[in-house]
Amino acid sequence: MTTFHIHGGIPLQGEVRIQGSKNAALPILAATLLTGDTSDIRNCPQIADVQHMVSLLQSLGCRVRRSGDGYLVDSARAGACNMSGDAITGMRSSLCLLGAMLGRFGEVAMEHPGGCVIGKRPIDLHLKALEKMGVSFSEEGGKLVGKAGRLRGADIRLSIASVGATENILLAAVQAEGYTTITGAAKEPEVEALCRYLTACGAHIEGVGSSILGIRGGEPLHGTKFSVPADRIVAGTYLFACVGCGGSVLLENAPCGQLEAVIQTAERMGARCQIDRREGCGCDDGCSPDRGYESGLYVQAPERPQALSRLRTAVYPGFPTDLQSMALAVLTRADGKSCIEETIFENRFRVVDALQSMGADIQRYTQNIVLVRGVPALRGARVEARELRGGAALVLAGLMAEGESEITGCVYIERGYENIGKDLRDLGARIVSV
Ligand code: EPZ
Repeated sequence: MTTFHIHGGIPLQGEVRIQGSKNAALPILAATLLTGDTSDIRNCPQIADVQHMVSLLQSLGCRVRRSGDGYLVDSARAGACNMSGDAITGMRSSLCLLGAMLGRFGEVAMEHPGGCVIGKRPIDLHLKALEKMGVSFSEEGGKLVGKAGRLRGADIRLSIASVGATENILLAAVQAEGYTTITGAAKEPEVEALCRYLTACGAHIEGVGSSILGIRGGEPLHGTKFSVPADRIVAGTYLFACVGCGGSVLLENAPCGQLEAVIQTAERMGARCQIDRREGCGCDDGCSPDRGYESGLYVQAPERPQALSRLRTAVYPGFPTDLQSMALAVLTRADGKSCIEETIFENRFRVVDALQSMGADIQRYTQNIVLVRGVPALRGARVEARELRGGAALVLAGLMAEGESEITGCVYIERGYENIGKDLRDLGARIVSV
């Protein structure tokens, strides 16, 4: 199990390029199943969750090979009959294959997706919506099995703007007979990226980027070349690393347009953020060079951050739940008292105990509200990562703390960060992994 050794208390200085988005790459790779053709998916992060999705696609009969910074996926020979044990057990962490398999094969079998440390992670919204589209689910030998004679379009109303449910409905709807509307759809950039990929493959989707999506199903789909956008959560992680340690960094290729709430929060903490603009077009297709393009984000932060009277997570474009743990870590050494409210998951304060062992003064006020009294300095300690974003937050705490820290359980962090150790060393941090 990888362990990070960190010598903390050093302001950050340098520049780092932001990797492709995990949460955009996963549903887009799943969607290649729908085309029966070859797609060239660029800028895919080299992380465990993506490699897992690739092996699931291969177990379904897709031919996938690494090409440059992405993958060539040929799904011509895919078939449900190839569904083997590990594909079924592995599905849980690649839930977006549910909609893709129903869209391509009209059937799916998967292990019951249990809960995880940040919450129950139910899939009732996914199942209810897909049942409205003609899928019947049953339990067979401890597995969840779904079958659909023919998927049909439906009017779906989501009571929660679930990212995964929106993605699964989209993946089924593009192959369904008739028109599907999704009211209350998630507006996260990763959903928009999936819509852009599907549209590039020939799908007909209206309302992209809004909470009301309309999909005319049955359009013939073909492969395409598509570049995965940069990861806004990884960019936000390094932005908060700078706010927590002080210093000045350049986050190359950061998706600034998707980070408004995050930048606003960092500036409330005392940071100064400036979007870096370059001449030319920035993409490799040579489009509209006269407009210029956002090439990254400059962040400058004082030695000690300011407290936040209130920070509340919300669905996009609000402050993202995936950056809540990083903001919490930073606020533990802010000048003043802060209050953080988590509104998306019911158990996303698991990192509190470890932060307290580093000297943080955090009080659990309710199940989803914590109160933080900033201390001048955290002290280095040996702490264990228990989930992806909480683990990244502990790395930030180690960078901020005085003295040496050891972060174990980094296999969780490697699920979402291509090379967080190297990235942070590029920003001047003293961190090594063993
Ligand atoms: C996606 O998870 C992301 N994962 C999460 O990122 C992210 O935190 C989350 O969206 C919210 O933005 C991927 O994209 C792979 P949801 P997802 O369905 O789709 C409840 C990370 O760190 N809900 O939007 O699973 C659910 O319990 C991960 O990269 C139901 O009640 O999230 C939660 O409370 C962590 N019933 C809320 O909705 C359902 O059927 C939001 O969940 C589905 C969800």
